Amino acid sequence: MNNISATYECAPNIALIKYWGKSDDELIIPLNGSISITLDTSVLSSRTTILLIKSNSHKIYVTLNSATQEIDDGDLNKSPDDLINKKRLFIMLDKVRQNCILQDPFEYEIRICSSNNFPTACGMASSASGFACLAYCLSKAFGYKGDVSELARLGSGSACRSCFGGFVKWNTATDSAFSLSRVLFPAEHWPQMNIVALILEDGKKAVSSTHGMKDTVLTSQLLPQRVKIVEEKRLKMMQQFIGDKNFDQFAKLVMQDSNSFHAVCLDTYPPLFYLNDKSKEIIQFINEFNKIDPELKVAYSFDAGPNCFLFVLDHHIAELLFLIKNIYLNNSDLGEKIVTSADGNFLKS
Ligand code: PMV
Repeated sequence: MNNISATYECAPNIALIKYWGKSDDELIIPLNGSISITLDTSVLSSRTTILLIKSNSHKIYVTLNSATQEIDDGDLNKSPDDLINKKRLFIMLDKVRQNCILQDPFEYEIRICSSNNFPTACGMASSASGFACLAYCLSKAFGYKGDVSELARLGSGSACRSCFGGFVKWNTATDSAFSLSRVLFPAEHWPQMNIVALILEDGKKAVSSTHGMKDTVLTSQLLPQRVKIVEEKRLKMMQQFIGDKNFDQFAKLVMQDSNSFHAVCLDTYPPLFYLNDKSKEIIQFINEFNKIDPELKVAYSFDAGPNCFLFVLDHHIAELLFLIKNIYLNNSDLGEKIVTSADGNFLKS
């Protein structure tokens, strides 16, 4: 049999302790480690299939959702933003071909087909799940002998954390082969944990994370301080709070780290405004909601965009969704969609 195929499914992940800033732009090595939680693939997922066809045509066809493109090395000499993912694909392919069990890794036409069960531009980190799937597909099809999370990282940094489910840590390192991600705790460790995503805006972000973090590294004086605190304290604390299932402390740290990340964005020149007025309203709302009881009930977190991720345990999710849908959304025209890990549906507000 001359043709080889592989199919994988991966879900987006949400950073609890965030990655922002690279020490190596080409190899995507982060300045600090990060910890995330991967969503359940039954809620949101990307699926990718690869087919290697024995041939000397060397063509590569990529289908994303329903649009197919033939790509070749020549594309890489043009450099608009949207080619960045193609460049990343070639970096991954090179890595795989250099270290695989396939005898003649250049003698194949490659067809890659990828789709998401959620809107690609809805702010749900589709590049993380997409590149994690691609890394698994390339590894399997070529018989890659290296680490799959290193491969995914070469596609998109945070993708390395989507290679695994549950609570995942991605380490920083001076050497690419050691900047890998690993499961800290499987999802079953804390089954009472729910994630609610409020999609406040579904357009493409104004400044991509790649460009934003480059500017931050060049201009922010707060960034070195953040990197130090994350490396010296927050990663260990987060690991412990998840291990102990201490929601109160977990929630506080998730919110502090999200705030610190956005403070660093604001300290960038020119400043990066990822939060919008609705995001800020949500932050205030959650703070008010948390005030009524002695222990925190909900945590918010925002990545490089205005959309909000809420973390809440089973016994408070009904109350939270009730408030958001019936009182808050209706009165303030806050959101477009809610996605919850509890019921797996897109709920229109
Ligand atoms: O992997 P990228 O380039 O999409 O960057 C992700 C950056 C954040 O989402 C803001 C933080 C993180 O750790 O995922």
